[in-house]
Parts: sequence; structure tokens; C-alpha cells
Amino acid sequence: MNKPKTTKAKPAPAPGIKFSIDGRECLARAGQTILEAAKDNGIYIPSLCAYDGLKPAGSCRICTVRVGGRHQAACTFPVSDGMSVESAVPDLEDMRKAVVEMLFVEGNHMCPTCEKSGNCELQALAYRFQMLVPRFPYLFPKKDVEPAGTKLLMEQNRCVKCLRCARGIRTADNKAVFGSLHRSRKKKMFVDLGLASALSERWARTAMDRCPVGCILRKEVGFAVPIGRRKYDQAPIGSDIEKPRS
Ligand code: SF4
Ligand code: SF4
Ligand code: FES
Repeated sequence: MNKPKTTKAKPAPAPGIKFSIDGRECLARAGQTILEAAKDNGIYIPSLCAYDGLKPAGSCRICTVRVGGRHQAACTFPVSDGMSVESAVPDLEDMRKAVVEMLFVEGNHMCPTCEKSGNCELQALAYRFQMLVPRFPYLFPKKDVEPAGTKLLMEQNRCVKCLRCARGIRTADNKAVFGSLHRSRKKKMFVDLGLASALSERWARTAMDRCPVGCILRKEVGFAVPIGRRKYDQAPIGSDIEKPRS
């Protein structure tokens, strides 16, 4: 019997870049984004479209920070030596809250009836920002609930167009299952029904889990974990990253 090949994983380079976030000294490795380095240093920068392991899209702007007086998306902007980053300051926090409010009014979100409630990143961000009534008028757009193959469905009323599904859900032979149509306000996610039906059980579950909101849903398992025992019912978003200032 052939011996299985073992490839030694290259050790990650030591963090040699010194920079700061809101005055806190941080260390980072070359090539890291501000968002990645912040996480490694126990600092939570709110984000939505970013997802570990997926190429960043820089589309939601919730992770906006200020570097050298200019606004940058922390999920795409690389750290550099001596950089000073502003993040948890009132105007940026209010801008993030405004983006979350905008996402609520641009869709139709009724949390008490939503299968994702308690696991939803948009809802968890709204709690973090103590959002009560959005400052923008509700648009009540007409959107549909659509079949997405044999295992999934898409609740378009809740889609925040983060593109995580388009970036990260592929078939075994590397075909994209999800994509987007149109641009800006008219942008809409679509799914290839044949490819979605061919997804394994594990990947169908992954598609649902990667969607930050309750848009991609597994048929028949929506309330498998009771509300009250879900991720953000236990601890607020970001609390797994944040370390208290020493
Ligand atoms: S997707 Fe999130 S914010 Fe929207 S209704 Fe569901 S729980 Fe609420
Ligand atoms: S379906 Fe979900 S993952 Fe895909 S773009 Fe919409 S919110 Fe993002
Ligand atoms: S998380 Fe950075 S732009 Fe969305």
C-alpha cells in the first residue's frame, strides 16, 4: 500500500508589522488586511460581506475605518508599518449603523418569523448598534421567495447582496451555483437550479450557514435549533473576538 504523502504546512510568518487601531498597538503579518489583523489582535471591526477564507468583496462598507484621514474598507485594505487606524469612533460607528438601517429598509425583514433569527448577522449588528427605528423610510420592495433546487430556497426579501454565496458556493467540478444580475439598487441574486440540486448535503448546509441573513434556507430544517439557543442568543456579535483593553 502506498504511504500517504504528507506535505509540511509552511509556518505563518511572524507578525513583524507594527500599527495601531484607536491608539492600541497591534502586530500584523505582511499581506494581512486591517480586518484580519484587527481580529488577531482582539479587536472587532464590524463587518458583513467579509467571510474567513473567501476573497473579500468590499461591498457592504460596514467595516469602513479611517486611515490617514481617508475612509477605507478594512476587509480589503492592507496593513502597513506605522499605520494608524481609526475604527471605534462615533462618526464611523454611526455610519455603520446607518448602513445597517439602510439594509433593513431596502428589504423586508420580519425577525420574529424568520428562520435565521438568532443566527443572523444583520440582526446581531442591529442589536450591537442599538438600532430601534431606521432613520430612512421603509421601501417595502416587492420581492419573492424562490425555489433554489431540491434542497434550498431563496427568501429574496432578506438578501443583503453580500455576494458570499456567489464567491464561495461551488460544485465539485468548480462551477458557481449562485450569481448576481443587474447593478446597484436593481442587483438581484440568482441560483442555477440544476447546480443547486446537485450540491451535496454538506454544501447545501454550508450555503445556508454562509449567508449572513435568512435568504438562503435549507428546506425543512429552518427551526431545527430553537430560537433562544442560537449563536447570537448566547453572546453578542464580535464578543468572540473582542479582548478588553489592558
Ligand atoms: S434575515 Fe435577519 S434581519 Fe432579516 S428578518 Fe431574518 S433575522 Fe431579521
Ligand atoms: S443570498 Fe445570502 S449570501 Fe447570497 S448575496 Fe444574498 S445575503 Fe449574501
Ligand atoms: S465587510 Fe468590508 S466591505 Fe463588507
